[in-house]
Amino acid sequence: MSTQTATQVALIGCGFAADYYVTTMANHPELSIGGVCDRDGERAKVFSSHHGLPLYRCVEELLAQDDIKVVVNLTSPESHFDVSRTAMLAGKHVYSEKPLAMTAAEGAELVRLSEERELVLSVAPCNLLGETAQTVWRAVRRGDIGRPQLVYASMDDGAIHRMRFRTWRSPSGAPWPYRSEFSTGCVLEHSGYHLNLLIAMFGQVTRVSSFATNVVRNVPQVDSAAPDFVSGCLHFDSGVVARLTCSIVAPADHSLLVVGDEGALTTRDAWDFGSPVHLRRDVLPERRRLSEPVPYPLVRECDFAHRYRGSHVMDFSRGVAEVAHAAAEGRPSRLPARHALHALEVMLAMMDGGERQFAGIGLDAIEPMPWAMEE
Ligand SMILES: NC(=O)c1ccc[n+]([C@@H]2O[C@H](COP(=O)([O-])OP(=O)(O)OC[C@H]3O[C@@H](n4cnc5c(N)ncnc54)[C@H](O)[C@@H]3O)[C@@H](O)[C@H]2O)c1
Repeated sequence: MSTQTATQVALIGCGFAADYYVTTMANHPELSIGGVCDRDGERAKVFSSHHGLPLYRCVEELLAQDDIKVVVNLTSPESHFDVSRTAMLAGKHVYSEKPLAMTAAEGAELVRLSEERELVLSVAPCNLLGETAQTVWRAVRRGDIGRPQLVYASMDDGAIHRMRFRTWRSPSGAPWPYRSEFSTGCVLEHSGYHLNLLIAMFGQVTRVSSFATNVVRNVPQVDSAAPDFVSGCLHFDSGVVARLTCSIVAPADHSLLVVGDEGALTTRDAWDFGSPVHLRRDVLPERRRLSEPVPYPLVRECDFAHRYRGSHVMDFSRGVAEVAHAAAEGRPSRLPARHALHALEVMLAMMDGGERQFAGIGLDAIEPMPWAMEE
């Protein structure tokens, strides 16, 4: 696609995360931002003038623009359902920040609507489309660790409650929404960085056994904090078992270990699209002794030009591009809505603690991107 025929996307929600999207949209010349809006008119004005983007006064006015094909829903989690629903009712494809919705019933309604209207609906995070995740996925599919058996996945964000989070601002000046972050919680906010890849690789989760609690008792000015330490064991239909831990207490650790019956794969940071991957192979199978880790080459160089500052080595807009490409090619998105719904059910079960079984929902298996499977 050339820039002349760029797909117009609109950003609804001009808060802290919206700057990530404007920055990384430049990695995708086939996309252009045709408009922005926010229910906070002042915030929308500041954001649109900071970035020089067309401003719409309300969601309805923006959605009435025929040229806008994809809505990027960057609103607060409790608005995701309404905004995604309204956008699809107006005929727009949707890429939503996570979570899909705040309840499984609302999530199911969005999936139903997308299927009924033949619209693409995908949900962040999109690190699944990154070079690191695609490399791990390819190695698993090629049998480089034999039959996958066990996963340890960590999503510890560091002791955020002890940081100066009230002073954090995005480049366009939006404050970090700490009340929303703490009340939504680390599972809904961040477990998807691992969960999306695990569901894509191993399919449906049939049972969740989880422990959830609040280790940090008092975060000033936050009334209802979600669990800040959650560790869940996920049993996949395919036989794989995964331990997925999320916290905002332990030092930052976003690592992933995938163990098979002939070896193991590791990567240090699931957030980083280009985090190196290492392979350990069985050298003495009868004693389960593994070789030292050796680098497993990334399927391609991770060199997108437009990056966000700080700790985020992510191409946030790659998921938006995937929605636009899937819509243009009339194919399913590599971030399927049904997977996002299943991820939401699993996350909610993890936050509740205890045991939850899931009946078969017939998730389609998906494969890595074609570029990742080339020899
Ligand atoms: N904060 C981060 O570092 C970060 C990083 C990646 C992703 N995210 C995700 O991005 C999303 C937004 O997070 P944020 O940090 O930008 O939050 P934020 O509170 O800073 O921004 C959300 C914006 O959405 C607007 N909004 C809410 N409901 C709306 C509605 N119904 N119609 C129009 N505008 C509405 C609010 O006025 C606000 O300006 C969340 O889903 C979050 O999980 C956040």
